[in-house]
Amino acid sequence: MSSDTAFFLAQKAFGNHGRAVYVSGMAETPLIRPRRLRRTEALRTMVRETSVGPDDLIYPLFVEEEIDAPVPVKAMPGVVRLPEKHLAKEIKAIQADGVKAIMMFGVSHHKDATGSNSLKSDGLLSRMIKRAKDASPELVVIADICFCEYTDHGHCGVVEKGAVHNDKTLVNLAQQAVMAVRAGADMVAPSAMMDGQVRAIRHALDDAGMEDAPIMAYSSKMASAFYGPFRSAAGCSLKGDRKDYQMDPMNGREALRESLLDEAEGADILMVKPGLAYLDVLARLREKTLLPIAVYQVSGEYAMIKFAAQAGALDEKRIVLETLGAFKRAGADLILTYFARELARDGV
Ligand code: PBG
Repeated sequence: MSSDTAFFLAQKAFGNHGRAVYVSGMAETPLIRPRRLRRTEALRTMVRETSVGPDDLIYPLFVEEEIDAPVPVKAMPGVVRLPEKHLAKEIKAIQADGVKAIMMFGVSHHKDATGSNSLKSDGLLSRMIKRAKDASPELVVIADICFCEYTDHGHCGVVEKGAVHNDKTLVNLAQQAVMAVRAGADMVAPSAMMDGQVRAIRHALDDAGMEDAPIMAYSSKMASAFYGPFRSAAGCSLKGDRKDYQMDPMNGREALRESLLDEAEGADILMVKPGLAYLDVLARLREKTLLPIAVYQVSGEYAMIKFAAQAGALDEKRIVLETLGAFKRAGADLILTYFARELARDGV
């Protein structure tokens, strides 16, 4: 078709009205134009479906006993192990930056077979919770309930005959949860992936008169390679793996079953972990529960973004918002992320 003919046909088709009339062989003028609402930032903001703000975020941090200066975590640029003795000052600064909730991981210098440094009232777990709550009573302090940071073998519970013994570990998890709440924790978050752990902890808390302490269950937790940097950050390198208690990353249906079991056992919040590689689990779980759901953007996800940004391959701030937005869109109410402090401080 010559350009003259095309011009003629177009005139004929659009006439004076500038409206669409079907012309064979020509593009049809759309009646429906989603772009109308994308024309300005003001319009885009008005119709934005998802937002991420400081109220949604939980900031994980690493606290090491018996050190004098922060230790950078090489695999997680920007993350340090905080000295226990600086904790009060750091917690105040973190709260001043706008962080609303934290989850602390202890880096123990006194590991043993049972992880007793997390079970004693003067042990690291209790001390760091007390220090944090004394420094900033309004900050929500969530205690990770697990043993891998405190045991010399690096497993999440009591090892017997080369495997983690489920029911003996339940007794210790329940005791650790009571210790954590007694020290001042606002919430406990069992992450050992033992069968029945939520129920065991709920009963123990209730028996101790702590019936108001909520449980955020790490309910769909995969045996994931994305935890690699965490293990060096928390100093819990491990011989072997956790495949006989954490979930097979190939299983989506089972991930739902695990979460729904935790709900039936009395969990107040469910969690999917890791985040980005498990958005399908998150979205499907959203359809199956009315409980709040948390998602954990884990150490390996953080490292991928940081290193790619450092190499100049990605725009860090935009990638962070895009990934956190994906979690919210898929159905998460809460996000655990090592970016929480920066986001709270610099705005989202
Ligand atoms: C267990 C625990 C782990 C993480 C959070 N809690 C390690 C594991 O299960 O091996 C990983 C978090 C991360 O990778 O950022 N205490």
